[in-house]
Amino acid sequence: MPTLTVPAHAKLNLTLDVLGKRPDGYHDLRMVMQSIALADELTVTVGPGRGIAVRTDLAFLPCDRRNLAAAAAVRFLEHTGQSLAVEIDLRKKIPVCAGMGGGSSDAAAVLRALNELTAAGLSLMELAGLGASVGSDVPYCVLGGTALAEGRGEKLTPLPPLPACALVVCKPPFPISTPELFRAISGKKLRRRPDTAGLLEALSSRDLTGAARRMYNVFEDVLPPRQGRTVAELKARLIAGGALGACMSGTGPTVFGLFDDPGTAEGAAADLRVDFEDVFVTGAV
Ligand code: C5P
Repeated sequence: MPTLTVPAHAKLNLTLDVLGKRPDGYHDLRMVMQSIALADELTVTVGPGRGIAVRTDLAFLPCDRRNLAAAAAVRFLEHTGQSLAVEIDLRKKIPVCAGMGGGSSDAAAVLRALNELTAAGLSLMELAGLGASVGSDVPYCVLGGTALAEGRGEKLTPLPPLPACALVVCKPPFPISTPELFRAISGKKLRRRPDTAGLLEALSSRDLTGAARRMYNVFEDVLPPRQGRTVAELKARLIAGGALGACMSGTGPTVFGLFDDPGTAEGAAADLRVDFEDVFVTGAV
């Protein structure tokens, strides 16, 4: 049976700005996204028959269509008019409900793998378009790399890559509800906005320090108080540990710091591991 094993890379938001609420209930966003080496691993197998079967090594994850990997397989088969049995074996490495796009990236990996396994011949942009109906971050995850995402998240512009750096990523041990944070930010006067144009300029001139200093996520300002304190503390510890800049990713709670020196990054990660379990040193891909 044709089978393919593919990585599903996590993403970080170098910036996240919410521009306003849309008539369809979603929000218009402007965000600079970066994929990182930390990745789940998916093995996708197709054969004769029907039905989507998902297996994962995390017992609490749903294996039905609430799992975005399964939803993506359903959408792909509908769109291409194929009748196949699909098996997805999912090895999770990306923390769940972390603001790192783990589920979206799994969905994107399934779309890419099925496109290859069935020789359907869809372009990356067509796959990204299909992904938009699975989740707002799926189109970006199909594309990967450094990119500007606008609209609901589906309007993508590839950007010059982030200059070589090390990233320290820490996921504090509490969940944050994405719809709740969107509700909290709706209509709120934001005290601070990211300098997205400045970050784009810094990327074009390959200025890592300039890029790091412009990272900001408007959701940092609407977190519940206790979560907000932890995120602020993590950012301060990363900066004290030598990060050029630090920011929360997505709707959190993951916080990351950007370093120009791998040794300094390892030192900052060691400091965070004293208090937090999910700490990774990784790089941009
Ligand atoms: O598209 P997705 O299912 O990932 O979105 C999860 C939730 O995030 C939505 O139900 C909505 O509350 C919020 N959202 C939004 N505007 C976006 C993306 C997500 O309001 N552009």
